[in-house]
Amino acid sequence: MNLCLGDIAPGFKARTSLGDIDFYEYLGNSWGILFSHPADYTPVCTTELGRTAALKEEFAKRDVKVLALSVDPIESHLGWINDINETQGCHVDFPIIADKERKVSELYGFIHPNASANATVRSLVIIGPDKTVKLIITYPASTGRNFIEVLRVVDSLQLTAKYQVATPANWVQGEKVIVIPSISTEQAIKQFPEGVEIVKPYLRYTPQPGGDALI
Ligand code: BEZ
Repeated sequence: MNLCLGDIAPGFKARTSLGDIDFYEYLGNSWGILFSHPADYTPVCTTELGRTAALKEEFAKRDVKVLALSVDPIESHLGWINDINETQGCHVDFPIIADKERKVSELYGFIHPNASANATVRSLVIIGPDKTVKLIITYPASTGRNFIEVLRVVDSLQLTAKYQVATPANWVQGEKVIVIPSISTEQAIKQFPEGVEIVKPYLRYTPQPGGDALI
C-alpha cells in the first residue's frame, strides 16, 4: 500500500513483545509513532530502540505512544530486548510487533523490495489523535534515525495543530514561528498580540504562541 500524508492510518491487530494488541486501542486518543527496523540482533537497530526507550519521558510528555516492528518472531524480540537493555543502559517497555506474516508491513509499505526483499526498511510514521498520518520518513538500513528530530517534528505538529502557524527550518521549541500564508497581515497582527515581524509580505514571523515552550 502507498500510504500518504493525510490518510487514515490503517488499524490492525498484532502479536507484540508485550502480548496481542489492537493498534487503535493501544493508541487511544494519543499521538502515535509506528516505526519499522530491518532485523533484531543488528547493531544500528539496537541503538535506535535503546534511544527510543531512553526518551520515554519525552514521548510521555507529548502524549505519544510508540510501537516498533520487524518481521522477526516474538522469541527473537524477547531475547534481543535483554541485549538492548544491557548494552544501551535502558529499559525497553514499549511493544515490538512480530510481523512474521508481514501483515502490518504491507499495510504501511514498510517493505521496499528493491532495497531488501525480506526485511523492513527504517520507516517511521507519526499518527495524530485523529488517526491521520502526519509524517512518514524512510531511512536506509545503514543510517540510524535521529529521535531528537522525531521529537522536534512532534513539537511542530502539536504546535501547528493548535495555532495558525508553521515552523521554519531547524526550528526548535521557543524560537519564533511563521504566520501561515492564508492569514492576512492585518488579521495576523490582531491574532498574534506578541507581534508580527514582516520580512516580506509572504514571510512573517511571530514569537511562538502559548509560551516559550509548550512542553
Ligand atoms: C543494523 O541495524 O545495524 C543494520 C541492519 C541491516 C543492515 C545494516 C545494518
